[in-house]
Amino acid sequence: MTRYADYDNWAWLYNQTMGPEYSQPQLDLLKRVLLPYIPCNGEILDLCCGTGQLIQPLVERGYKVSGLDGSEDMISYARKNAPQATYYVEDARTFDLENRFDGVFSTSASLNHLMSIEDLTQVFERVYNALKPGGMFVFDLNHPSQLERWWQGQPTEGELNAYYAWMIIPHYDASSATGDFQVTIFQALNRSLGLFDKLLLPLKRLVYRLLSRPRFVGLRLKLIQKLNKIEPHWKCKELVYPVKGHSLDSVKEALDKTGFQTVSIQTIDGRLEIDNNHSAHFVCAKPTLIKQSQAQRSHSVATTTPT
Ligand SMILES: C[S@@+](CC[C@H](N)C(=O)[O-])C[C@H]1O[C@@H](n2cnc3c(N)ncnc32)[C@H](O)[C@@H]1O
Repeated sequence: MTRYADYDNWAWLYNQTMGPEYSQPQLDLLKRVLLPYIPCNGEILDLCCGTGQLIQPLVERGYKVSGLDGSEDMISYARKNAPQATYYVEDARTFDLENRFDGVFSTSASLNHLMSIEDLTQVFERVYNALKPGGMFVFDLNHPSQLERWWQGQPTEGELNAYYAWMIIPHYDASSATGDFQVTIFQALNRSLGLFDKLLLPLKRLVYRLLSRPRFVGLRLKLIQKLNKIEPHWKCKELVYPVKGHSLDSVKEALDKTGFQTVSIQTIDGRLEIDNNHSAHFVCAKPTLIKQSQAQRSHSVATTTPT
């Protein structure tokens, strides 16, 4: 199986945009649903840790934190952001670490990149194996009705400054329950400017700065869509990241099959009703040894009882 490494292509940008932006609300969730169950100095694994913005605050709280990701470039930023953690460049479907963790978490819909329920189940099995008995597993997913509502082929976020610009266009096809997000990145090249371009430069910088205010998001995204005309010399790169819309029922079934107890499925702000405006955050537990042996006993009774 080839290790998932697609984020190598935009690690530098992720590290200064989504990485820091997504981390605060995710940290608030972890403080509520995961950290109360982790002993002081306990061991935590950030699965698909990306650029690791969630790792440093956990290290500062005294936990022993490891980060695992398929992208070497994402991990290289994580190493800079949280140097005291331990890192593994591995695929989430195949990793097998020596440590056993008190908690494992995976944030920002990383597991939507697992394109089949079989692949997702493989990840659950690896996490189950990596946890101590009684350990917790917290992860989030974008679910089908949410993807159908919000991933409509229009740009949703983007940034523009004097040196680079980017935007994201997410798209989802309900009939196949698959989608993708396209990341378009423009970068100014180092080149000597003609007189006209030199005179125009301060004005462009002013406009780009103005458009970076939150209230001009619509205008900004429209301009980025036309940027190849306004900045014909900027290098443009388009990256596409496929995702799968796993139904909540299929995910729950896969967790059950692996042996996890699903404690709750909630929104990031703790509501137990998942609507199409929110992603689903799963809080699961690996049973303690006593519960595991009880389950094994009842399983063997069930399989040996004649029907
Ligand atoms: C959206 S980013 C999230 C990063 C980080 N968790 C955060 O909250 O900012 C998704 C991450 O998942 C990683 N990823 C996706 N599929 C993976 C796989 N099969 N194995 C390892 N890493 C994977 C990517 O490399 C990327 O760093």
